[in-house]
Amino acid sequence: MTRLLHIDSSARPGRAGEHPHGSHSRRLSHAFVNRWRAARPKDEVVYRDLAASEPTVVRHEWIPAAFTPEDRRTPAQHAVLRESDTLVRELKAAELLVIGMPMYNFGMPAPLKAWVDNIVRIAATFDFDPGRDNPYVPLLADRPRRAVLLTSRGGNGFDAGGPLAAMNHADTALRDVLGFLGITQVQTVAIEHEEAGGPALAASVARALSAVDALADAWLTA
Ligand SMILES: Cc1cc2nc3c(=O)[nH]c(=O)nc-3n(C[C@H](O)[C@H](O)[C@H](O)COP(=O)(O)O)c2cc1C
Repeated sequence: MTRLLHIDSSARPGRAGEHPHGSHSRRLSHAFVNRWRAARPKDEVVYRDLAASEPTVVRHEWIPAAFTPEDRRTPAQHAVLRESDTLVRELKAAELLVIGMPMYNFGMPAPLKAWVDNIVRIAATFDFDPGRDNPYVPLLADRPRRAVLLTSRGGNGFDAGGPLAAMNHADTALRDVLGFLGITQVQTVAIEHEEAGGPALAASVARALSAVDALADAWLTA
């Protein structure tokens, strides 16, 4: 059995193709999960809509709590970390992450960044060993895990090798974060031209939907 963690983060609650002005990244993430579920109905899927339920941003008290070993935390520190504990538990339970992510101002949406800040945790998802050449120890490399980043952009040219690739701090940043934790099998499928619309968007959507199907099928048999 594969356990999926399905995340959406678009501020637009509806899905493109079903709702007027719906979200393209939600459409792609649901297309991937639906394809997976059709083939493996018994696989567990945990769904988290970060836009509907925004993780708390990291605040002052969070930092000493996270850096205090678990058995020495005060009850107040345990309480401060409770939400982060839940998000970390969901992440660690999953072998496959399906993440819907719009590009907002060249980066990821704030609720998704808040999720990242809650799940990158010392002694939980990474460790620090100053005795090693590379002191960072990824704790999610314990078993094979994969992630697919389903993104949508108003403009175009943000893919690797594209004219605006250097300004893409969205899926590229998330890929780096996941790699830091030990999840190195990461694929991106992107829709572009959302602002222009018309045939350019239609062609990009069609390409992305077939790339999603192909990736799901490849990972279902891998
Ligand atoms: C606040 C905001 C910031 C955006 N910033 C960018 C951007 O930097 N580059 C870009 O190409 N499109 C940008 N867009 C357009 C979105 O990436 C585009 O509408 C995308 O389809 C949103 O994803 P969704 O369809 O899943 O909601 C922005 C949209 C919003 C609402």
